[in-house]
Amino acid sequence: MPIKIAPSILSADFGAFAEATEELSAAGADYIHIDVMDGHFVPNISFGAQLVRALRPVTQTSFDTHLMIERPEQYVTEFAKAGSNIVTVHPETTYHLNRLLHQIKDAGAKAGVALNPSTPISAIEWVLGDLDRILVMTVNPGFGGQAFLPEMLQKIHALTELRAAHGLRFEIGVDGGINADTAPLAAKAGADTLIAGSAVFHHPEGLADAITELRRLANAAAPPEPRRSGTR
Ligand code: DX5
Ligand code: ZN
Repeated sequence: MPIKIAPSILSADFGAFAEATEELSAAGADYIHIDVMDGHFVPNISFGAQLVRALRPVTQTSFDTHLMIERPEQYVTEFAKAGSNIVTVHPETTYHLNRLLHQIKDAGAKAGVALNPSTPISAIEWVLGDLDRILVMTVNPGFGGQAFLPEMLQKIHALTELRAAHGLRFEIGVDGGINADTAPLAAKAGADTLIAGSAVFHHPEGLADAITELRRLANAAAPPEPRRSGTR
């Protein structure tokens, strides 16, 4: 399976989310990544479920909603019902991760967790079988446009080994600082999906060329098939 590209609309013009979403879909984005920030778990505030609901009629492309919020149990159902195909939470934000993942699935979405750079894989050891997606944060979440942390390549690779060893199928996403230089590194380490904000929205040739370029560079660097999964 080719590596998937998930542009983050956090880097879009906030006055034109619908137009950006349409343009990304037409350009062949595999998912639209929607970064939700509450000003508590991360320093920044972005947008909420109302935006997901408003954008849902604009496209058939899957919405990949990344919740960087405290008390996620109060909101995941709403985000799923609003039209998120994947809802990703941070394990640090909840006492009952297993229950939260099942709450997401019961609401009709796929369930993911995002690991902060300092969060070890062991934090999710006992929910691995419940996960559709693991997002390796390659920046500290909160803002677009930060530099990729190369130490995280080892974490990506370790997840591919864990997945193979346990016969699991979760997708590995990589989020933060992805550009033409870092996309091949993440792909080589075993990423299935690359999230990219600045590199897509600030590309001099526009969104479509940015997506095509990232996909080409990533696929050229990816290891042979059996190392990757990409369940969907
Ligand atoms: C960071 C977000 C990322 C971010 C990616 O808190 O989770 O999805 O928007 O943006 P770039 O690609 O600019 O690092
Ligand atoms: Zn994100």
